[in-house]
Amino acid sequence: MNLIAPSLLAANFANLQPEMDWFNRSEADWLHLDVMDGVFVPNISFGFPVLEHVARMTTKPLDVHLMIVEPQKFISQVRDLGAAVMNVHQEACVHLHRTIQQIHEAGMKAAVTLNPSTPISTLEDIICDVDVVMLMTVNPGFGAQKFIEHSLDKVRKLRQMIDVSGSKALIEVDGGVNRKTAPLLAQAGVDVYVAGSALYGSADPIEEVKVLKGLTA
Ligand code: DX5
Ligand code: ZN
Repeated sequence: MNLIAPSLLAANFANLQPEMDWFNRSEADWLHLDVMDGVFVPNISFGFPVLEHVARMTTKPLDVHLMIVEPQKFISQVRDLGAAVMNVHQEACVHLHRTIQQIHEAGMKAAVTLNPSTPISTLEDIICDVDVVMLMTVNPGFGAQKFIEHSLDKVRKLRQMIDVSGSKALIEVDGGVNRKTAPLLAQAGVDVYVAGSALYGSADPIEEVKVLKGLTA
């Protein structure tokens, strides 16, 4: 599978309408929304007042990436946005199995994200319970950072873990996805490609989505 998920973090927040217009007209599949709390990551982005407006501006699935401590406190608020995917960090969840259950009970897909330094072996016992595993391919908190090359090995290992276990989880990557890295990630077995600066920084984002789709097919 090759789903493209533009990351709104790289958009012009002073004027979101044109950004949402191209997104809606493009072949993009999910809208990736980065929530940061200044505690789990060294940056603050946007919160529910912004998300509520954005959610009304599209009918495509929302992938809400919570870079916050105690994300389980916000499950019902994320559900009320109409989000399709609630994306929590393994490092932020002491009772990850319970949190995954609660996300499912709320009617959403459960995505679990790993920081670059967190080994995939930490997911061994829940790999059949998650819908998506997202690997950070940069350190979370900022857009437009350099892709961490070691991520390719990590994707290959994760692909193997998923295939051997019989899990149906999709593999998502976040950070430094562009024309150069996307084909390498596709070869390693990625399903969902988050891209911020590569799309929002492009003169023709609709065309750029098409290019990334083609390069990952
Ligand atoms: C980083 C965010 C990413 C970010 C990716 O913490 O989770 O979603 O927007 O940006 P690029 O694609 O520019 O690396
Ligand atoms: Zn993200």
